[in-house]
Amino acid sequence: MTTNKFNIHAQKQEYPGSDAQLEPQAEFISENYLGSRKLVGKVALITGGDSGIGRSAALHFVKEGAEVAITYLKDSEVEKVDAEWVKQWVENEGGVCRIYPVDLRHSQEAKDLVAQVLSDFKKINILVNNAGTQYPNDDLATLEDEQWLDTFATNVHSMFYLTKATLPHLEKDDVIINTSSVNGYLAPGNMVDYSTTKGAQISFTRGLANQLLKRGIRVNAVAPGPVWTPLQPATLGQFNPEFVENYGGNSPMERCAQPSEMGPTFVYLASSDSSFITGQTIHPNGGMMVGG
Ligand SMILES: NC(=O)c1ccc[n+]([C@@H]2O[C@H](COP(=O)([O-])OP(=O)(O)OC[C@H]3O[C@@H](n4cnc5c(N)ncnc54)[C@H](O)[C@@H]3O)[C@@H](O)[C@H]2O)c1
Repeated sequence: MTTNKFNIHAQKQEYPGSDAQLEPQAEFISENYLGSRKLVGKVALITGGDSGIGRSAALHFVKEGAEVAITYLKDSEVEKVDAEWVKQWVENEGGVCRIYPVDLRHSQEAKDLVAQVLSDFKKINILVNNAGTQYPNDDLATLEDEQWLDTFATNVHSMFYLTKATLPHLEKDDVIINTSSVNGYLAPGNMVDYSTTKGAQISFTRGLANQLLKRGIRVNAVAPGPVWTPLQPATLGQFNPEFVENYGGNSPMERCAQPSEMGPTFVYLASSDSSFITGQTIHPNGGMMVGG
């Protein structure tokens, strides 16, 4: 049996997966995290904010004083439960959170989402394009066209649709943060479609950062390494349970991260602490040396 530092068990979940069903449960924010009002007065729209990395970003933003709009995948009861958990957590903190079911593969749904968030919050200052998916495939010759298209629709087209719908409403000093992946750089052979989308997200980040310089809107990316979220059991659990059980064991730190180790990076990029940074990617990946 492989060992790991979080006592993770081999497990599978029905797609899209849920934090409520993760075994062991993940940590989203360290109990030592002290907010210091870095985001007071800001409204953040975070896709996939119901669970995993997006949930951690949402909780940290709230600790910093932001109000949050989070999305979960439409028609998924388990994601709705996760999203309601976040809303409850935020309200227990005295904060404001609204939850929105959406399928961001569709342009019109992205437009409708932005209209609804603007109606509810009156503005958006921080857009976090974090929703994503992955499927394993070892042989490009067998990779179905539908899978290729769906991975792009979920990871890349969604980012385009939502950013396009949000941009007219962003102002100077507002920010966009895109969740890419270390796999955009390492590109393992069993996830060519996923890695290609993650690389595209980096170029999207850079191009948009250049385009928005004159408007004073910064655009950056986060490229996490392995993080303990529902994505792995939901997409890899049935194909490779041992990989899930030893998730992150092959990385330099020989473990995966907890989502709580991601949120502070999003705070940094969302706040004026990073006011001289745009078009860049930050790599909370446990020590994997990658360029750019
Ligand atoms: N977990 C990791 O090890 C890891 C590592 C690197 C990058 N990432 C990236 O982090 C991001 C968040 O993933 P996570 O690991 O927190 O997993 P997660 O399962 O918690 O989050 C993924 C979210 O994507 C959303 N989503 C999926 N398809 C959607 C669609 N069609 N429309 C709208 N929303 C949709 C879901 O709401 C879901 O909550 C993804 O972009 C993923 O590629 C994860």
